[in-house]
Amino acid sequence: MESNYKTALVTGASSGIGAEIVRRLTKDGLQVHALARDLSRLTALQEETGCVIHAMSVDDLEGLTALSEKLPVDVLVNNAGQSRKGDILNTTAEDVDALIDINLKAVLHMTRLFAPGMVERDRGHIVNISSIAGHYAFPGGNTAYHASKAGVHSLSQQMRVHLYGTNVRVTEISPARTETEVFGRLLGNMEEAQRRFFDEYESLKPCDIADSISFVVNAPQRMNVSFMEILPTKQVLGGLNFAKRTA
Ligand SMILES: NC(=O)c1ccc[n+]([C@@H]2O[C@H](COP(=O)([O-])OP(=O)(O)OC[C@H]3O[C@@H](n4cnc5c(N)ncnc54)[C@H](OP(=O)(O)O)[C@@H]3O)[C@@H](O)[C@H]2O)c1
Repeated sequence: MESNYKTALVTGASSGIGAEIVRRLTKDGLQVHALARDLSRLTALQEETGCVIHAMSVDDLEGLTALSEKLPVDVLVNNAGQSRKGDILNTTAEDVDALIDINLKAVLHMTRLFAPGMVERDRGHIVNISSIAGHYAFPGGNTAYHASKAGVHSLSQQMRVHLYGTNVRVTEISPARTETEVFGRLLGNMEEAQRRFFDEYESLKPCDIADSISFVVNAPQRMNVSFMEILPTKQVLGGLNFAKRTA
């Protein structure tokens, strides 16, 4: 390892991208703390990797505050995220609140709680998982989800300004379609999600994102990969729609 990082905290670590990040950073020699709500999955990950587990929600501000007071963290990966069906014309108030609380507010709180210690030690790396939804408009995406991820992009940029002059690095990773449970949770049916989103489309694997994070975290201290957009080779962004007068 080029960096002198010793500990990492990964949110949303019980499945998908987060669990793979825990596996990868453990292999890199870090002591990894894994945070999510599902205790049984965290326990299985602990048995597999030796990570330290914290079964809590990222909207449990009291719990996060207590954790930040006893845990000096070198690498913070803000990965926990949720998605919802619907757009702004039919989404529920609960869905809007949950997406903003989990995807955006929690990232701000985690950073507010853990970044000061990094600055004090003059050592640290914050990795925020946004999404292509935060950078592009496309059909099918929940408006609040897009807005929450755009917020993660914006706060990542602003954090670099506030950390100017320190050795604390901030990286935003913006993945496109990755083969995780997120689409199954969305549809309420894992098999259907597998069929619709992955069987016919060669998507990214969680290890592709975890390997990318390992690369940025292990980069020489002089180098900060500030933004990384990761697409499946056969997925592209762009396009223009123009409804006819008669539509
Ligand atoms: N898969 C994709 O195509 C894709 C693309 C772009 C961006 N992303 C982003 O990648 C991140 C990881 O998602 P994924 O694809 O790996 O989906 P996933 O398999 O559904 O994982 C989501 C993780 O977030 C955790 N989580 C959800 N709510 C939480 C809460 N309140 N407190 C703590 N943890 C919570 C879940 O654990 P518990 O349920 O145990 O709490 C789970 O470990 C998300 O931020 C997502 O928006 C995914």
